[in-house]
This record gives sequence, C-alpha cells and structure tokens, in this order.
Amino acid sequence: MVHVVVLMLWHESGHPPSRGSGANPCRLALYPRECQPLNRVTRTPDLGVRHAGPVPLTPSDDDAVARLRWLRTPEGVAAADRAAALVAEGVEVLPGVARLRAEVGVAHAGPAWELARLRARARPVFGADADVLFLTADALEQAGRPELAARRAGRLLAGGAPAVADLGCAAGTDTIALARAGVDVVAVDLDPVARELTAANVEALGLADRVRVVAGDVVDLVADARDGRVAGCPAAVMDPARRAGGRRQLDPDRWSPPWSTVTALLDRVPSTVVKVAPGLDHDRVPAGVEAEWVSVGGSIVEALLWGRGLSTTWRRATVVRDGVHELTAHTDPGLAPTGPVRGWLHEPDPAVIRSGLVACVAGELDATLIDPTIAYLTSDAPAASPWVSSYRVTEVLPFNLKKLRALLRARGVGRVVVKKRGSPIEPEALARQLRGPGSGSAVVVVTRVAGAPTVLVCAPLSG
Ligand SMILES: C[S@@+](CC[C@H](N)C(=O)[O-])C[C@H]1O[C@@H](n2cnc3c(N)ncnc32)[C@H](O)[C@@H]1O
Repeated sequence: MVHVVVLMLWHESGHPPSRGSGANPCRLALYPRECQPLNRVTRTPDLGVRHAGPVPLTPSDDDAVARLRWLRTPEGVAAADRAAALVAEGVEVLPGVARLRAEVGVAHAGPAWELARLRARARPVFGADADVLFLTADALEQAGRPELAARRAGRLLAGGAPAVADLGCAAGTDTIALARAGVDVVAVDLDPVARELTAANVEALGLADRVRVVAGDVVDLVADARDGRVAGCPAAVMDPARRAGGRRQLDPDRWSPPWSTVTALLDRVPSTVVKVAPGLDHDRVPAGVEAEWVSVGGSIVEALLWGRGLSTTWRRATVVRDGVHELTAHTDPGLAPTGPVRGWLHEPDPAVIRSGLVACVAGELDATLIDPTIAYLTSDAPAASPWVSSYRVTEVLPFNLKKLRALLRARGVGRVVVKKRGSPIEPEALARQLRGPGSGSAVVVVTRVAGAPTVLVCAPLSG
C-alpha cells in the first residue's frame, strides 16, 4: 500500500522523504535501458480506429495548416533553407525578414523565418533532425526529449506489441521514436495543426509508411478501449497537454485529456505509458502502476506511469548523468533514520527525492537524514554515487545572518553558492548579502536540523 504524507517543510517540490519499513525493498541498476533488445515487427496490424468525426477547423487553424502545407512544397523547403542560412549568419529578424520578403514573397517570408528560428532552437535537443522537422512554437514547447522518447519506446515495445497508439501526438516526438523502433503507429490528435506537423515530420524523416495520422478525441477512444486495445493497438503512449492559455495546469483533472482518461487508459490497456507532471502526488498513482521520475543533469525532465502490463516495481528513479542509472523499490522504503550532522552532506538527485527513494540511498551510503522533513543526508564519508552530490561540511551554526557573514569573512570566503531546503530565504539574495572581498568560496546550505533553522557551511564541490 502506498502512503504519502506531504509535509510543508519538505524540499521545494513539496514531497516528503519516504517512511520506515522493514526489509530492504531497494534495488540499484546501473545499466542503460536502451541496451534492451527491441522487438522489430514488420507485420501491419488491423488498426480499426474509430474516428471521432470531423473536427472543425477554426480560421486560425486553417491558416496555420495552409502555412505548413506551403512550407512542405519545394518552394517552401527552399525558403526555409534560405531563412536558416540567414539565422545561422546571425542576421537580425527585421533585416532577415525584409530580405526574405524580396526573395520569397511577402506572404511566405514570416513563416519561413519562424520555422528557421524554431529549428535553430530545437537543434540542441533534436540534433540533425531539427533541420528537417516542422514545428510551431507551441508544439516545440510541448515536445519531449527525443532520447527519452526512444527510451520509453524501447521499454514499451519490449513486450512485443506490433502497433502503438500515440494518444495526443503534437509534433510527433513519440510517434517518431516508436516508428524508428520498428512498429506501426496510430498518431491521434484533436488539433489539426498537430496532425499536420506529425504527418510532415514522419514524411521528412522517412517514416511515413509506418505511421497513420488520425483525427480523434482521445477521451472517446479510451472510453471505447476494449480487450487491452485502444485505437486498434495493443499498446499506447499518452502525454496529456498540461498547459492551457500559456499557464501550467497543476490539477490533473484539468489536463487534456483529463486524469479520468489517464486512469481509464491504465485500467483498460495494460501496455501503456503515460507522461505526467513531475509534481504528481504519489497518492494519485493507481495500485499496480509503476511511477518513474527521470532527471537529466540534475533536473527532473519527466515523470511516467507504466501500466500494469509493463510495471515491474513500485517506484523508479532514473538519473541520466554520465550514463543512465536506475534505482527501484518494490515497496515504499519508508523514512530514512535521522541523525546529527556529520562530516559530509549529501544532496539527493531530484529524481530520487520525487520518487520517494531517499531511504534507499541512505541505506546504500550508511547515511541519515538531518531532519525527518528535509531531503538532505549526512554521513562520515563522501559518496561516489550517481544518486547524490556530496559536500564536505566545515561548520554548522544556527541561522544568523550577522554571525554567518562574520564567519565567512574570517575564513576569507568572498563567493558563496547558497542552497536551501525548508527555509523561506531567497538563495540569490542571500548569496549577494554574503559576498565579500575574500578569494575563497563556499557552499552555504540553509535548512533545518532537527527542526531548527540551521546553516551548514560546506567546501565547494571541487574542494
Ligand atoms: C503534450 S502534447 C504531446 C507532446 C508529444 N508527446 C511530444 O513529445 O511531442 C499533448 C497533445 O495532446 C493533444 N490533445 C489534448 N487533448 C486531446 C484529446 N482529448 N484528444 C486528442 N488529442 C488531444 C493536444 O492537441 C497536444 O497535441
């Protein structure tokens, strides 16, 4: 059974460390999941998709689709290439668009410039694909990371599904990853611009023969799901839209499709993976469904719910940093023990914290929490571990700005990095207040120890 108690003093993302239990339920896996073999299937399944009926185009959808269609013509491709060359030369928007207007016409210059700009923005994440992808600003903002989409596809297909429904395809990041993994994909979206983007992108990447782009309402398709299949497919990816009107929707009932459709899909189609908000409460996770939090370079980038046909554990923390590291627990590992601050402070990776697996890491490092409500660990030794960043503690003192400043001056510390958990201070503002003439540097951790506002002065990471 999953229990989660949200304690207000917990770290910034509002999730507590997990609580005590008996036998060790934790497992560490230091292997790249991408190495698992994929099932490559060439058979074309009976897709049997029920369409939700014609979806009306608004005038602005009409315009956007027409612009995209033109950008796919040979003239459009040449215009976007020309715009890309101008963007790469560093030409500013006004002179750039003016030159394009003269070369490709007034109506086409803006769309070509915009596409070139979006492709340049996408390049660091999408690599060479970005140069041929069709994007809108909205679709790019909603798009996941292709390497993580490929990882999801690998795990989803390990069960041998010959076809997958991408339920809300947007610009097609998941559709592309699935088609590249060798299965047929039914890419569904309510939004005609999204469908146009996905169709254009799979064609641009030579994957069109594997993909069928379908207009449909995922809410209806999931309501019609039977016998472990949705939209005719025995497996599904869903990535609900979690923004509306430019604002993040924190309440899963307000996602599109909403939470009720997420749980219905998980109930009806066991081979399902759903991308959810990293802040999802643990008590929302249905029984038997695995929840995974993924971080890249120390930041959470996605959270996933794996359906009962794919779930292999209770929670999984995946840390992508110099390789892919996975930490799992088959049940709630509980709360790590608490103890006094020792010589080293360990800051768990956010994926470990969000997944409720701090106690697993504490056990591995022989570490204790500095406070039962704060996700900082302490031990006598540094840790060469992907799950934490370690800092050597040089001083522990009650929080007092004047005394802290005096201590740093006395130590010759002029530059500080401030970290905080369980404290209302503003790290940047405090770092400015603590700046001094000294040439040394320090990490100042403002937190609570056994309930008391406390500062831990630590040597910088390289120290
Ligand atoms: C977050 S985006 C998907 C992003 C995509 N996985 C990617 O990485 O590029 C969600 C998509 O779901 C679509 N959508 C939202 N509600 C829908 C519904 N009820 N039926 C079909 N599509 C829907 C939106 O139009 C949007 O394109």
